[in-house]
Amino acid sequence: MGNVMDAAVMYGPGDIQFEQVEKPSCPEGGFVVEVDAIGLCGSDIRNLTTDSRSGNYPWIYGHEVVGKVVEVAPRVDSYRVGDMIYVYPLAHCLRCENCRMGHSEQCTEMENYTALPGGLAQYISYSSKRVERGATFRIPEGVDPIRATMAEPLSSTYACVENIGVTMGDTVVILGSGPVGILLAILSRMRGASQVIMTDTNQSRLDKASKFDVDACINSASEDAVSEVKRLTGGRGASKVISANPSTVAQQQALQMARPCGTVVFFGGVPKGALTEIDSNHIHYSSLWIYGHYGSNTMQVQKAFELSLDPRFPADKLITHVLPLSDINRALELTASGEALKVVLLPNGDLTK
Ligand SMILES: NC(=O)c1ccc[n+]([C@@H]2O[C@H](COP(=O)([O-])OP(=O)(O)OC[C@H]3O[C@@H](n4cnc5c(N)ncnc54)[C@H](O)[C@@H]3O)[C@@H](O)[C@H]2O)c1
Ligand SMILES: [Zn+2]
Ligand SMILES: [Zn+2]
Repeated sequence: MGNVMDAAVMYGPGDIQFEQVEKPSCPEGGFVVEVDAIGLCGSDIRNLTTDSRSGNYPWIYGHEVVGKVVEVAPRVDSYRVGDMIYVYPLAHCLRCENCRMGHSEQCTEMENYTALPGGLAQYISYSSKRVERGATFRIPEGVDPIRATMAEPLSSTYACVENIGVTMGDTVVILGSGPVGILLAILSRMRGASQVIMTDTNQSRLDKASKFDVDACINSASEDAVSEVKRLTGGRGASKVISANPSTVAQQQALQMARPCGTVVFFGGVPKGALTEIDSNHIHYSSLWIYGHYGSNTMQVQKAFELSLDPRFPADKLITHVLPLSDINRALELTASGEALKVVLLPNGDLTK
């Protein structure tokens, strides 16, 4: 094997080659991980299929990494060779004002993972910053690394439902039934929501969502989703409404679906530059809370990781496909088409062997 490894290398929008590249060396003060399992996320699909690096290729993406430490720099004692870990992709500084306010998701000194080579490869290296800042979690023996990859997509959804205080008796509407919308539905139910309603414009996504513990699935391409939510909530509207998709129309609908004094979350970003026209009088007279959500703070990252390992969390139902890294292009197609909910790739082959 020597100094080369397999990797899924991006050469341009949608041009991904499975090939051999140089193995990363261990940076001063850092460590190297052999990637056992890596989840493919909506943002990976967006980055791999658009000119996300403005012509600056080749590049390796991938950030939902679980694997074994195989090399540590001298004098690093927080990691040992052989440790199985999950690495949260963002390293919060825990020193800046936003971090100290408890909002490390808005850290101003963040080490941005998109600037460093990712984990769609057999090995990934992490800098000394990662060692100093942590956000790396040891996986107990006997836990399936494939399950542990769910910790990363769980983190921002966990943070969202915690920050808006989804609780017993809540009616929650989630617009967008992708993997993220489904996670929001699962977590809302776990927190005691009495009614969980999902919408999507894609019927096959709704069919998948309906397999989870949700009360209603509305196709907003063929039905008036706002009236339907009103009908299902006895005319009141929902107490918490989360827009988890990239549509400005859905954001408008979300505002109309909320009950007076309800909370509306803009969880999904819309295309750069797109503006959502909103009736601010409706927000004003209905006393709505509008909440923009992004990421998760350092404790929420930890709690989401712990939840991902809990057998009550239905990781097996969410991870619909486990494929070798060589199937990267098939994985992209399965995810983009919605046939798969969550694909996990195995860069170092079958874990049971
Ligand atoms: N805030 C955060 O921290 C955070 C973290 C992760 C993802 N996100 C965002 O959450 C969103 C969902 O992520 P995902 O991975 O599930 O994405 P996805 O693309 O797999 O799913 C989005 C779903 O929204 C549906 N949709 C599109 N237009 C719609 C509309 N008008 N009404 C209802 N549904 C509509 C699509 O059909 C699709 O099923 C994305 O926008 C993503 O960028 C935000
Ligand atoms: Zn992700
Ligand atoms: Zn910070």
